[in-house]
Amino acid sequence: MRRTVEPLRAVKGMNDRLPGEARAFARVEAEARRVFGLHGYGEVRTPMAEEAALFSRSIGEETDVVGKEMYVFPDRHGVPLALRPEGTAGAVRAYIEHKVATVEPVTRWFYLGPMFRHERPQKGRYRQFHQVGAELFGAASPEADAELIAMIHAFLGAIGLSGVRLQLNSIGDDACRPAYAAALQAFLRAHAAELCPDCQRRAETNPLRALDCKVPADRAILASAPEPGASLCGPCREHFDAVRGHLEVLGLSPEVNPRLVRGLDYYTRTTFEFLAGGELGSQNTVAAGGRYDKLVERLGGPAVPAVGFAAGIERLLLALGATEAAAEGSDLLVAALGGPARRRALVLAQAVRAAGLRAELDLRGGSLKSQMRYADRAGAAFALVLGDDELAAGKAKLRQMGPRGGGAPGDEIEVALDAVPAELRRRLRDVR
Ligand code: HAM
Repeated sequence: MRRTVEPLRAVKGMNDRLPGEARAFARVEAEARRVFGLHGYGEVRTPMAEEAALFSRSIGEETDVVGKEMYVFPDRHGVPLALRPEGTAGAVRAYIEHKVATVEPVTRWFYLGPMFRHERPQKGRYRQFHQVGAELFGAASPEADAELIAMIHAFLGAIGLSGVRLQLNSIGDDACRPAYAAALQAFLRAHAAELCPDCQRRAETNPLRALDCKVPADRAILASAPEPGASLCGPCREHFDAVRGHLEVLGLSPEVNPRLVRGLDYYTRTTFEFLAGGELGSQNTVAAGGRYDKLVERLGGPAVPAVGFAAGIERLLLALGATEAAAEGSDLLVAALGGPARRRALVLAQAVRAAGLRAELDLRGGSLKSQMRYADRAGAAFALVLGDDELAAGKAKLRQMGPRGGGAPGDEIEVALDAVPAELRRRLRDVR
């Protein structure tokens, strides 16, 4: 009896990217490197797993990210590790661990890579997703916030995403936040009986987190809660007004959203989000971030202010409606008949690649007709037929297959085998 083997599937919320999609990813990443590089950012690569305590101490115990969504597992010594749910905590840990503040007054880092959150998967929300992000350490001035936000805007423009909205807020600092948190707590306590158990607990442990609550009934009540952006102290108000002013000068017109708190505990003062229109629906925040002036110190480092952001690559691609064509065909397909010709074809293809052009053999072999059909289907620019006669003569016919190559499809020219790479380069140079 034949046994059927149940094929294994990818983990829910963690997706494969086949070459077409992977190319679209790579294009976004390349633009990030280019645009962030122009702004003086250097790439940092931190591990995918960190001690879980790093995230609970920075992002906060009461946040959904830490409380509900983190992949935590003990390593072989029982130390709790977590797959990183975001990039800031690891970057700050590395910044402290390598004492970067002692050698650089201002540090600009960017990163890209996978992040992990056990959320309910839906369009634009995955359990493994990819961020490009940046962190600017050592500058407390409003110019830093504005420069960073304008850089994100430039990056979004560079990948072709237009029509994004920028929302901006300030959530205050240690001077004004306690009074706001107390006012919010009083509000939450007054409505405690109507709120979900999570919010009843948050009212006592971390009132601001109640503002992230997704329960519709709670959201309706919270709509009349005091707003963080409405109770700033003088210096926070001044900082916020300056950020807005600089952004206006840079040609950006942010909408002020006094309720924008963001779902992570480490923020002080500026918070912002870029929202894309179109088909993303509720998962339309394509990039988001803010200032976190206390985090470096809270994790055991020096008192260094910072501001940063991250964008979700999957969401950027959804917002772009990016469908990338399958990879372009080879520049040359070599169709070879017979053992000696196939061996010569291997060498010829190597020589073409060494000249910086894409060469392919029809590895299946088969008749000349079937190899030429393959060249056509695979979108090769040129095909070259190599048999015993061509080997003996040391030359072969180079046939143009598609529109690339200067001549017309079907054109043939005879070329010495050693001259094939140079001839291809000459014919393809101007049309690539
Ligand atoms: P975040 O708002 O948690 O911030 O995530 C930033 C972006 O990552 C989101 O706006 C979204 O585009 C994308 N994203 C988040 N979760 C998912 C998901 N489950 N599936 C797909 N995309 C997702 C941070 O991560 C902060 N570290 C940003 C930051 C850097 N703040 C200061 N520095």
